[in-house]
Amino acid sequence: MSTSATQAPRTDAERMADPNWWRQAAVYQIYPRSFADSNGDGIGDIQGITAKVPYLKELGIDAVWLSPFYPSALADGGYDVDDYRNVDPKLGTLEDFDEMAAALHAAGIKLVADIVPNHSSDRHEWFKEALASPKGSAARERYIFRDGKGENGELPPSDWDSVFGGPVWERITEPDGTPGQWYMHIFAKEQPDFNWDNPEVREDFLKTLRFWSDRGVDGFRIDVAHGMAKDLSEPMPMKADLAARAHGTDGFVDGSHPFWDRDEVHEVYAEWRKLFNEYNPPRTAVAEAWVHESRRARYASPEGLGQAFNFDLLQADFDAPSFRKIITENLIAAKETGASSTWVFSNHDVVRHATRYGLPKGGSVAQGTNAAQDISSTKPKGQDGKGWLLAGAPAEELDVELGLRRARAATLLMLALPGSAYLYQGEELGLREVTEIPDSERQDPSFFRNPGVEIGRDGCRVPLPWTADGPSFGFGQDRAHLPQPEWFARYAVSEQEGVEGSTLEFYRRALRLRSELQADEELEWVETGNQDVLHFSRPGGWDTVTNFGTEPFELPAGTVVVSSGPLEDGLLPADTSAWVVRDA
Ligand code: BGC
Repeated sequence: MSTSATQAPRTDAERMADPNWWRQAAVYQIYPRSFADSNGDGIGDIQGITAKVPYLKELGIDAVWLSPFYPSALADGGYDVDDYRNVDPKLGTLEDFDEMAAALHAAGIKLVADIVPNHSSDRHEWFKEALASPKGSAARERYIFRDGKGENGELPPSDWDSVFGGPVWERITEPDGTPGQWYMHIFAKEQPDFNWDNPEVREDFLKTLRFWSDRGVDGFRIDVAHGMAKDLSEPMPMKADLAARAHGTDGFVDGSHPFWDRDEVHEVYAEWRKLFNEYNPPRTAVAEAWVHESRRARYASPEGLGQAFNFDLLQADFDAPSFRKIITENLIAAKETGASSTWVFSNHDVVRHATRYGLPKGGSVAQGTNAAQDISSTKPKGQDGKGWLLAGAPAEELDVELGLRRARAATLLMLALPGSAYLYQGEELGLREVTEIPDSERQDPSFFRNPGVEIGRDGCRVPLPWTADGPSFGFGQDRAHLPQPEWFARYAVSEQEGVEGSTLEFYRRALRLRSELQADEELEWVETGNQDVLHFSRPGGWDTVTNFGTEPFELPAGTVVVSSGPLEDGLLPADTSAWVVRDA
């Protein structure tokens, strides 16, 4: 392609050595159990990922973010970690991990590991020791144990709810068999929260971060980064008092919630940053922090984690003014901290965007679902209806074709934005949410803790279809751990490879062009005179136009290098994006 915007291509080695590789990276999230199964046990594994490195290379991503792969009973899909410095035997071995890291690196792809510091699993050695040790012991001090209220300690220490439903406290049986203390778990009861005031906990995580950094992990995604610091001084406020203290739909914006988004958490990250900077290039980190936008910068600061997820587009309707406002505000915020912004439409926790955009209300996460919870629980639950744990969408209201058309348009817009773009496995195939999983096959704890209310997140975690036939559409040699629907056949990699206009070939083309076109992190809006059409320019004459409206729109002069759907008589149709490069 010869255009004014083309950059001199960089070699893989140059990209790998660049300390700023993360700033505009396209990061592909792998949910390991559901990516590729090499040994036929129905669960995706590390060797399965290694075998697909050529696929990842061909896709054109810069980094892989691997969701937890540590030993785990999978009470919460691996976010319940038994041992932070090992690989789940169901997924492979440390040697397999090293081979996978080496294969990714050889392909010029960085590796980001998911770290889960707020809680371990209840099978972690430390938690077992805590249960076997007496009240007040050092072993209990690594977690959060409290006496119950009531005459015999039979009532929980506070009335707070956990994110997955039900109380945040679970009562234990003491080693002598009597009913005992209670421990805190913001998520499932199999996920006891660590006590981050304990220096031993802090030391142990530094050891874990070093362990993986030494093994070649290039960066970390920090799970529930806004949850670790806690103030549980007595009297603990009642949940009704907390709700009353929240600032309307903005929730807690001053760090005064007892366990979400407290300022002390940044002391931990300052320590982590020192460790990250000992490496060359420095290890990167991105915070999963569902906090008010005014608080996000703290997580993204260069003295802290360096980058934070921005879930604003993910929570927005498919609507031009909302998109424009969100993009503008986040680019300003990123500039202020020196970080680059992050963008994401789908991940393992939310209904896939190809489904959200096919629902009547046009894509807001909770629309058409019965989301009951809100992880941005600095807000009183359910207050703004924007959920995190989502139920499956009502299939009968779904417009499949519209959903995919809009999802592709939104993705093309996202891939043109300055900052890093996070993609979730399967979206490059145009997969939508799987709504037809029978209750008996569901796995997500949010389903079990909210009977009849939450369907949970299994619908976006169904193993990928690689081929149109076979017992699990090429995922493995046998049945997959979550049932795959018949319609997966049409979306299989084998059906899309080399097929002009397929979603896979569209992603490949857009990602390849993105790496060629990307330069400075500048973006300029171009006024279109139409409130339903967004147009922005990046340096070097790279223009992106998205038509959120209903009427075809005339594109600016230049070469259309990619569009999310076919043009109509040279015009940009409804629900479509295009990249136009000005002719040299
Ligand atoms: C992860 C979820 C997980 C939760 C508890 C989240 O932020 O993305 O999948 O259930 O943390 O670890």
